[in-house]
Amino acid sequence: MAAVTVGDDAFVNEDGDTDVITPWSVQSKNDTGVDYDKLIKKFGSARIDDELLKRFEKVTGQPPHHFLRRGIFFSHRDMHTALDVYESGKSFYLYTGRGPSSDAMHLGHLISFLFCKWLQDVFDVPLVIQLTDDEKVIWKNLDLDDAIKLAHENAKDIIACGFNPDKTFIFSNLEHIGNNPAFYRNMIEIQKRVTFNQVKGIFGFGDSDPIGKISFPPTQAAPALSTTFPFIFKGAKVQCLIPCGIDQDPYFRMTRDIAPKLGIPKPALLHSIFFPALQGSKTKMSASEINSAIFLTDTPKQIKNKVNKNAFSGGQATVEEHRRLGGNCEIDTSYQWLKFFLEDDEKLEVLRKNYTSGDLLTGELKKELIDVLQKLISEHQARRSQVTDEVVEKYMVPRDLGFVLNK
Ligand code: TRP
Repeated sequence: MAAVTVGDDAFVNEDGDTDVITPWSVQSKNDTGVDYDKLIKKFGSARIDDELLKRFEKVTGQPPHHFLRRGIFFSHRDMHTALDVYESGKSFYLYTGRGPSSDAMHLGHLISFLFCKWLQDVFDVPLVIQLTDDEKVIWKNLDLDDAIKLAHENAKDIIACGFNPDKTFIFSNLEHIGNNPAFYRNMIEIQKRVTFNQVKGIFGFGDSDPIGKISFPPTQAAPALSTTFPFIFKGAKVQCLIPCGIDQDPYFRMTRDIAPKLGIPKPALLHSIFFPALQGSKTKMSASEINSAIFLTDTPKQIKNKVNKNAFSGGQATVEEHRRLGGNCEIDTSYQWLKFFLEDDEKLEVLRKNYTSGDLLTGELKKELIDVLQKLISEHQARRSQVTDEVVEKYMVPRDLGFVLNK
């Protein structure tokens, strides 16, 4: 994976932990990947437990999404508070984002958006989506105009997930922030309350980092404050809920410290595990490692070849051994990916049993994954082809999203 080194000394893991998680790098030394229980403890978040799942079901009247049932979204902060708000007849809003570093988004990038789409449908709430083209200019040394172009290209893939056009605002930081004084004001409110020591501690920045990196976090924090969007919330201080990969949590730990000082509720969070690379769970999928990723632009043949060639197998070396000893789903990429994308619980369980017992061979499990991915991606491509520049513009205009605090 592209292990992006942050600052001079990279990220210092004082406690000798072998998992290194920052917004820019995810690495683990274990075959089964990051130790998420340890991460919950270290970050001080809470596990999404049965009680919370039951409450989701009660409040929404719908079975929880399979990402919740299967522990793909596994950790949270203050989700009970967000549900309290909703149950008391008030609305919250959703916030997520994407750093547009390449044209082609990959499967891992879809996770938060697929989940947001479900949340938006179930709760019928507004959603703001930040495209951090500015972040990528600083970190990836992109040209400003190129970064904006990538933001617009990525917006097409995001829109293809099916967000409600009346309730979704997508913005490029480079285009939007200069036209929205409320955004800049909140950035300043945050900037004046965070010290250099704090950002060093939270993000691992070093003395030789460009100051753009050091001053970036408030840009990602501000959309979690409803007063950043007066055209949507008209000054109301509204509960925010952020679904994101757990690597983004540092931004929102910072935001949660500051929000109450501005009289705004702390944003609630739902954290997902990382989407494993084809080669296994030690790293997350990275767009800059072409063979670690399946892109939303891949053809059926490319999908088939990449899975067959590169998907890490938890099976045995020979058919005889496999029949005798069975496969290990915990480290098998095909099974792990099916957990993300095969919605049918019963079918998934049959595959798990048969692979574990050795009745199902690695090639057969890969075939199941290939079928699921080819369908998912070709349907995505069909929807994306309908998203014209005019459609993108509609989502990206600052506008009233019909928000009312009391439903
Ligand atoms: N920094 C994130 C990335 O590189 C993008 C992002 C901006 C984001 N705002 C967010 C992600 C809010 C999750 C939630 O992908």
